[in-house]
Amino acid sequence: MNIKKAFMALLMAVPLLGSAGEFIDSMRGPTPLDQTTQPPPLVNPDNSDVRRARNYAMQPPVVPHKIEGYQLDKNANRCMMCHARTRTQESQAPMISVTHFMDREGNFLAELSPRRYFCLQCHVPQAELKPLVDNGFVDVDTLLSKPGKPAPAKKK
Ligand code: HEC
Ligand code: HEC
Repeated sequence: MNIKKAFMALLMAVPLLGSAGEFIDSMRGPTPLDQTTQPPPLVNPDNSDVRRARNYAMQPPVVPHKIEGYQLDKNANRCMMCHARTRTQESQAPMISVTHFMDREGNFLAELSPRRYFCLQCHVPQAELKPLVDNGFVDVDTLLSKPGKPAPAKKK
């Protein structure tokens, strides 16, 4: 079989695989792949200005204010107009932490590190919604405050 024939065979096999399995992507719902899903209505994000506790020390804090209309692209970074070191006195926003000035080798730069430029990669606004997937995360303080010793690690 030459490559072209093999490829055609593969193409023909794909729909068969799709119809045979009971595969359901719970995030997408039961809508078939060739049809567009009905987007959920837009909700009002949290704008309480109340900073939320983090679940672990290295968690990027979530955004407690609206970010609608804030420009964040290669030309302008609206977030930095309040969160930059030089802007926090005026804005009273918490300053980006020291890790945002570090390059991947751990050197401190004078400016925001390019790898931290797109804030929304890590920091997200919040809204009252039903989670798409269950989450059983328990933070370390809760874990340690449980009565009884933690079970010793089992040997293999
Ligand atoms: C107009 C000024 C302003 C702009 C613009 C702004 N912020 Fe904020 N941000 C604040 C202030 C003030 C707070 C402190 C809590 C509050 O008042 O909402 C804050 C809080 C936060 C926090 C919570 C920090 C913590 O320790 O809990 C995050 C994360 C954050 N902002 C991210 C962003 C991102 C991402 C953008 C851009 C999309 C942005 N902010 C744009 C003023 C601003
Ligand atoms: C690659 C992920 C990432 C990106 C991108 C990123 N951050 Fe963060 N940010 C974090 C993490 C992780 C923390 C918490 C630990 C720390 O301070 O490094 C944090 C902490 C913060 C805090 C709280 C600082 C403090 O001392 O309490 C603020 C405010 C913040 N980020 C703002 C921003 C803004 C504004 C941008 C965009 C210019 C941004 N971050 C981009 C990961 C990121």
